[in-house]
Order: sequence, then C-alpha cells, then structure tokens
Amino acid sequence: MFTALAIGAAALMAGVANAQVTATGTMGVTNPPKATLGTPINQTSYARLLSLNSLNDFCLFAPAEKDSVIGNVEAEVVAWCIQARNNARVIPDGSITGAQLQKSPLYWQVSGWGDFTKINIAPLDEGGELDPHGATGDGNPVGGNVTCNATGSDVSYEEWMNYMSYQQFCLRICIAENATYSAAIECEHTLDEMGCNWVMPGAYLNNSFTECDADAAYPPGVYPLANGSTSTFAQRYTGTYTDGAGSVGMFTIGQTVTPQTAFSTPASSNCVTYSTIGNGIPLSSLGLSGTVPSASSLSGSSQSTGSASTTSSSKSGSASGSKASTSGASSSGSSTAGSAIPGFSGFNYGPIIAAVLSVIALFAGTGAVML
Ligand SMILES: *[C@@H]1O[C@H](CO)[C@@H](O)[C@H](O)[C@H]1NC(C)=O
Ligand SMILES: *[C@@H]1O[C@H](CO)[C@@H](O)[C@H](O)[C@H]1NC(C)=O
Ligand SMILES: *[C@@H]1O[C@H](CO)[C@@H](O)[C@H](O)[C@H]1NC(C)=O
Ligand SMILES: *[C@@H]1O[C@H](CO)[C@@H](O)[C@H](O)[C@H]1NC(C)=O
Ligand SMILES: *[C@@H]1O[C@H](CO)[C@@H](O)[C@H](O)[C@H]1NC(C)=O
Ligand SMILES: *[C@@H]1O[C@H](CO)[C@@H](O)[C@H](O)[C@H]1NC(C)=O
Repeated sequence: MFTALAIGAAALMAGVANAQVTATGTMGVTNPPKATLGTPINQTSYARLLSLNSLNDFCLFAPAEKDSVIGNVEAEVVAWCIQARNNARVIPDGSITGAQLQKSPLYWQVSGWGDFTKINIAPLDEGGELDPHGATGDGNPVGGNVTCNATGSDVSYEEWMNYMSYQQFCLRICIAENATYSAAIECEHTLDEMGCNWVMPGAYLNNSFTECDADAAYPPGVYPLANGSTSTFAQRYTGTYTDGAGSVGMFTIGQTVTPQTAFSTPASSNCVTYSTIGNGIPLSSLGLSGTVPSASSLSGSSQSTGSASTTSSSKSGSASGSKASTSGASSSGSSTAGSAIPGFSGFNYGPIIAAVLSVIALFAGTGAVML
C-alpha cells in the first residue's frame, strides 16, 4: 500500500527528481538477453522487450490475445515490432498509417495513427497506458524492458511511457535528464486520462511518416508562466482510504480545471519524410489475409514544412520537395511554433500541491490508502 502511495506522491511532486536514467533492473524472463535485430518471426511470442531506434525500427506494446481491452491486460501486453527483432511479434505492414519520430535531447518519442485492431486491440478501445511502474510497481507489462540506441548503442532506460488505443499510439523513452527536469518528470506517466496529444505533444499526422530532431517539450502537465516560473497540473483523482480504526473514507486530489492542450508542440528540424514504414513481410506469411497499401498510396499527404506553405493536395508531396521514397527521402526544415492554451490562463498550483502532500501525510499516519 505504502509503496503505491509513495509512487503516486512522488509522481505528483514536480521537481522531486528520481535521478535514474538508465535501468538497473533485470531483463524480463520472456525476453532475449539483449535487443537483437533479425530474430525469427514468432506471432505467438511473449517477449516484452521494446526498442526505439528509428522511424522504421521501433516496437509498441499491445495485447497477446485478439480483441483485448488494453486496460484489462496492461500487465500482460507483449512487444510488437516493425522489424523482426527481440524475439517479439512483428507489426503487420499497413497497420501503422502515420508516424512521427521526434529525437530530442531528453527523450525520443514516436507517435501517430493506425489500425491497432491488427495487433489485438479491441475495436473502439480508447486504450490504456503502459509504463515501468504499474499497480504492483513491477511494470506494465511485468518484465517489460525498453531500449533506445540514441547514444549509438542499445541502452535500457528506466523511464518510458506508451499509450495505445485502437487507432492512436505514442511512445516516449526518456534518455537523459538535466538540472531542471528529471527523466521521471519528463516521462511523467500519471496523467493517463489526458491522452497522447496532451501528454506527448507532436504532429500526429495521419498518412505521413517523418523523423526529426526536436526540442524537448515541457514535461507533461508543466506549464510555463509569464513571469518565468512554471505551474504543474495534477490529474484529478479520487481514491479511498482506510483509517486506523478500519473505516473507509474518500479523498480527492488534483485540479478540476484542465488545460485544454499541451503548452506547445516542440520545434523540430532536420526532418526526413518517408513514404511509409514496414518490414516487407507478406501478410500471408503472418497468417493474415489482405494486401498492404502500396507506398505511393500512403504518401498522399505530406507534412507542411515551415510556416506559410500552402499545402496542396497533390498526390506526390508538397512543393518543398518532400516526395518520399522508402530508402532515403528528402530532408526539410520544419518548425512548429508554440501555441497558446485556449481556456487556460496559468494557475498557480503551488498551494494545491502542498495540500496534496499534507493530505497524503495525514493518510500515511492513519492507515492504508487504496490507489
Ligand atoms: C532490462 O534488461 C537489462 C539487461 O539485463 C538490464 O540492465 C535493465 O536494468 C533492464 N531494465 C529494467 C527496467 O529492468
Ligand atoms: C514462440 O513464442 C512462444 C511463446 O514464448 C513459444 O512457446 C514458442 O516456442 C515460440 N515459437 C518459436 C518457433 O520459437
Ligand atoms: C540505431 O538503429 C537504427 C535502426 O535499426 C540504425 O539505422 C542506426 O544505425 C542505429 N544507430 C546507431 C548509432 O547505431
Ligand atoms: C532542461 O531541458 C528543458 C527542455 O529542453 C529546458 O527548458 C531547460 O532549460 C533545461 N535545463 C537546463 C538546466 O539546461
Ligand atoms: C488514417 O488514414 C487511414 C487511411 O490510410 C484511414 O483508414 C484511417 O481511418 C485514418 N485514421 C484516422 C484516425 O483518421
Ligand atoms: C509567478 O506567477 C505565479 C502566478 O501568478 C506566482 O504564484 C509566482 O509566485 C510567481 N513567481 C515568481 C518567481 O515571481
């Protein structure tokens, strides 16, 4: 009980650093000893080793059994990878219909759209959130392990989060921290009801595949104020507790007013646009029927690059020359300016955070808190 409480409290306290960046646990028992490209295809694998190395080489967590509601199987999801790697399952080509990779100094993040019923998520399931913490502290999934080769070799990182729904995904792996933001804060995972666009701002373009360098976003829930300080949003949360005498009470923490969007979408640069991503493995050899949309039919809409580009609906990309090919593609500068937050005027949450902590302190003295 108190372990869960401590995790919740720590997660709510912006600025309290978990100084851990690289992982110190063990590899899950269902996983190969290390991240490995080119392992045999096994669509019934239980491997839970996820890698994020490039726009065409990453994995997502999704259910082992068809038509599963993610929220019911968070502890048991398995790794699905674009390429055959990590002894994991492969994502059938055509499942991902749009993806953007942002390589920032503090994290790598890939996000986008697809038909994730093809990787066992139940139709219309609005999804769930996977992270290394979970109800038991052992991680969702238990034995999950996550690598990124941002530094030039495969490194297992401690803090990451992966939101999955039947049609949207986002994955952030925190690869570094600085004096302002710890890896735990930049991968703050407790705001799970806010969804991908809010927690992990990005372009979220469907039918577009782009890999960019990017600035790091403000951590989830952190909003800069006009005077240079920041405010921190805490997801509203109601729980129950049992006091020392055995009676059960309710408590509520967090804000009732929700900022409408993330503060900004970080600026990006050195973008490379691809026509599609995939492994080229015929669907029939994965036991599936159907055909994969061709690369050219996937490349219809290209990313708007720069400010005032009039995006035409021409079939082969925009005037900036981002006509794409799977192998190389064009590069283009791209930047997205910070945007205002509609309906949010910058509250000072300091007293609320302080109140949260005193409530938690009160419970810690009285009995168990059920989170
Ligand atoms: C993942 O496995 C590696 C290799 O065994 C290990 O060093 C790392 O700590 C593991 N990660 C976690 C989160 O336990
Ligand atoms: C595929 O993975 C399952 C679950 O780990 C395992 O039982 C099976 O032996 C694997 N099949 C192959 C061909 O490796
Ligand atoms: C990381 O992995 C990607 C995709 O597999 C590969 O293209 C790239 O060369 C790797 N990066 C480094 C620095 O090894
Ligand atoms: C840490 O990174 C964030 C995001 O890029 C930045 O706003 C902040 O100034 C950095 N802090 C330091 C001390 O460099
Ligand atoms: C993304 O585009 C595909 C066509 O490539 C379409 O089937 C799908 O519905 C779109 N997804 C969303 C969320 O709009
Ligand atoms: C900045 O503004 C907030 C909200 O008005 C206030 O609570 C905070 O004390 C200010 N910080 C500084 C350093 O002036």
